[in-house]
Amino acid sequence: MSNPPRRMRSQDWFGRHDSHGFVHRGWMKSQGHPAHMFDGRPVIGICNTWSELTPCNGHLRQLAEHVKRGVYEAGGFPLEFPVLSTGESMMRPTAMLFRNLASMDVEASLRANPLDAVVLMAGCDKTTPALLMGAASVDLPAIVLSGGPMLNAWKGRERMGSGTHVFKAVEAVKAGTMTPAQFEAAEAELNRSAGHCMTMGTASTMASLVEGMGLALTGNAALPAVDARRQVLAHMTGMRAVEMARQDLRLSHYLTREHFENGILLNGALGGSTNAVVHLLALAGRAGVPLTLDDWDRLGRDVPCLVDLMPSGRFLMEDFCYAGGVPTVLRAMGERMHRGAVTVSGETLGEIADAAEAPDGEVIRTLEKPFKALGGITVLRGNLAPYGAVLKPSAASEPLMRHTGPAVVFDSIEDFQKRIDDPDLVVDENSVLVLRNCGPRGYPGMAEVGNMRLPAKLIRKGIRDMVRISDARMSGTAYGTVVLHVAPEAIGGGPLALVRDGDLVTLDVPARTLHLQVEESELEKRRAELKPFVSPYSRGYERLYVEHVMGADTGADFDFLVGGSGAPPLRDSH
Ligand code: FES
Repeated sequence: MSNPPRRMRSQDWFGRHDSHGFVHRGWMKSQGHPAHMFDGRPVIGICNTWSELTPCNGHLRQLAEHVKRGVYEAGGFPLEFPVLSTGESMMRPTAMLFRNLASMDVEASLRANPLDAVVLMAGCDKTTPALLMGAASVDLPAIVLSGGPMLNAWKGRERMGSGTHVFKAVEAVKAGTMTPAQFEAAEAELNRSAGHCMTMGTASTMASLVEGMGLALTGNAALPAVDARRQVLAHMTGMRAVEMARQDLRLSHYLTREHFENGILLNGALGGSTNAVVHLLALAGRAGVPLTLDDWDRLGRDVPCLVDLMPSGRFLMEDFCYAGGVPTVLRAMGERMHRGAVTVSGETLGEIADAAEAPDGEVIRTLEKPFKALGGITVLRGNLAPYGAVLKPSAASEPLMRHTGPAVVFDSIEDFQKRIDDPDLVVDENSVLVLRNCGPRGYPGMAEVGNMRLPAKLIRKGIRDMVRISDARMSGTAYGTVVLHVAPEAIGGGPLALVRDGDLVTLDVPARTLHLQVEESELEKRRAELKPFVSPYSRGYERLYVEHVMGADTGADFDFLVGGSGAPPLRDSH
């Protein structure tokens, strides 16, 4: 005999026979919902980051209709609601400033409303971690549906990748090999369909990690945004959310240490974005799973990059889809993954991998013949980064992996923009570009400015990479020998604040060190001369952010948001 259906959380609103029930049901009926929608069936929230100001998520309104079809088919009651949408290509000073705010919106919306499960609809970079962080702090049954990547972009027969070719185009204009008219034409050529960036940038990385961690159904990462099969995926996601509500399969069920380790391993195999580091650390903090920067290095240390995708490689997400997507990478990873990890589909990760196509050996490689020997994130430490810094070896240049050079220091991104192309700037290809005051508190929001462009005079000489160091992040679509997330950040007295022009800096990736070749006594002297940080914000969200954001090494979440408060019964509203 099967168990009787469990009482849904939403019945605390809709199952009452008093004035409260009247109000909760009655006002809902003003939208045309029939009475039987309130009969105890699962109410499925569709948490949507659709916004015309977030072009990558501009199609999520229509996609949500397919989720609703699935929810209705499975006997649930879908209710869609908006949350703050963080558009990477629009928000100033950086969308990352608002990731934590969006997560608070999600947490509050889920807890305060009559919901039994939620479909998290994300796409553009920060929307995925924001939704998951908020949902983890409430811990209802939850399943992610990503919006999917744009179609490949082409220039003749050459693929062009989101972000990656913007950086290349900027360099080409500086080098005089691209005209301003060609530059403008590339804007439309690059962005020819709905969807998020189609390189293995942050959005594709997060959508892939979500799939590999078992938080979304198979196909979530790679199916193009405009592929009808993504609409089918939305439909199936809605159906599955109803079942998850019935079985009370909460998010915490899929956010164990094993799932996070699978995320780190997969990120290595994908040559994924450095931004995944801060997002998974923050999510682990919400889920109560101990995870540190060192786990990234330890687990990812010898994971080869199996995927030949931009920014590190040649292909794009559409190619990744045709080659089998995340399941094929999981198959290629074999026993390296925790194959027994449960997924929202009900299958284990191993079962999904076993059903996948074999690697084609071109877009997706094998462990025996990888695309690059090192795919994981390298964590560096030393007197310049006592709490750690990160580097993506698959995007870096081999000859620069061990390098000592004189620092050229910039105090802000504006300072950098003003001076980098100055013909009199003392800089050559051996120099180490240092950018500071761009961390979580310093920018604020830890902007993606760490992949500083090279001086025009060096680009004209044919130089394509230099060692760059900052407390900023970089776009997941960027490349180069770029040391990021230096912690503690310069603002507040991190050692990056002590570097002066001409100081020798040594990067040694194999030894995992980042060292400023200056005597400790001299550093002490410089430290004593630093001015204390005074926040320029006296009010508003920026004040909250600067006062409470933690370091990049722990995920840049707010100190008061770590952990969760669940979804306990709440007081009546009237
Ligand atoms: Fe939205 Fe790249 S700008 S994913």
